[in-house]
Amino acid sequence: MGTVGELERSFSSSRDDITKSRVLLITGSTIGNALAHALAEDDNVSRILLSWRSSEPKISSDKIKCFQMDACVESEVASALERLGPLDGIINTIGLLHDGSVKPEKSISRLDTAAFDKTLTVNVLPTLLLAKYGRKALKDSQDAWFATLSARVGSISDNQLGGWYSYRASKAALNMALKSLAIEWRIALPRCTVASLHPGTVGSPLSEPFTRRTDPERVFTPAQSASYLKEVLHNLSPVQSGRFWSWDGTEIPW
Ligand SMILES: NC(=O)c1ccc[n+]([C@@H]2O[C@H](COP(=O)([O-])OP(=O)(O)OC[C@H]3O[C@@H](n4cnc5c(N)ncnc54)[C@H](OP(=O)(O)O)[C@@H]3O)[C@@H](O)[C@H]2O)c1
Repeated sequence: MGTVGELERSFSSSRDDITKSRVLLITGSTIGNALAHALAEDDNVSRILLSWRSSEPKISSDKIKCFQMDACVESEVASALERLGPLDGIINTIGLLHDGSVKPEKSISRLDTAAFDKTLTVNVLPTLLLAKYGRKALKDSQDAWFATLSARVGSISDNQLGGWYSYRASKAALNMALKSLAIEWRIALPRCTVASLHPGTVGSPLSEPFTRRTDPERVFTPAQSASYLKEVLHNLSPVQSGRFWSWDGTEIPW
């Protein structure tokens, strides 16, 4: 495990090399780790900094360095972004659908205030904090990404089934935050593409209770989803900033 300080020291000697090739920050475990490995295969990516909160991910690439950070805690995000140096991309995959105290609501009668607060916080706050403290790190990149995994169920116009009040509302709020950020950064960071991404239905702790009866062929492995998302990111440019993309490259209406 590396602390942010240890990471910074190990990189400072090769800072010149770093600025010549892409350095990315990725947060989150299942799809986040798969994305880190997919992007580490790119020749022009020199380093990927992968943050984790409760359990250190297994890594099989020398380009990926892990460090612990709770992206819901402002002081931890501020200190990490201050010390990691220049970046060419921040990809946030943190999200919450359920845990011991949170369950997606089938009916409004199931709404629980504490669960709503937690869902909104985990699904929106890390993106806002990463934008607040990551702006400086991204500003000199010639071709930057600021992307967050949202979910198709956060699309208001695509909502045909209802339910999942807190999760849907939190992802809609996340999408709105990304849209506002894209507008602000059109001038402040014109070379940065801000994107909201839907990863598809992916086998992970987040989806597991809801995919038990799904045809396994319709559930992507994290590696499959990561390779699709990587393709989507590679095909985006700043003129497309502030939009919502599915894993197959199609645009999702807000
Ligand atoms: N899997 C799917 O089918 C699917 C579909 C649509 C959208 N998405 C979105 O894709 C993203 C990644 O999902 P995934 O499948 O990779 O899920 P995952 O394996 O459950 O990863 C979620 C990540 O969020 C972090 N997290 C959860 N609660 C947190 C909290 N209170 N504070 C800080 N971090 C917290 C987790 O950290 P810990 O490991 O420490 O808990 C983990 O790193 C999420 O935003 C999800 O909404 C997933």
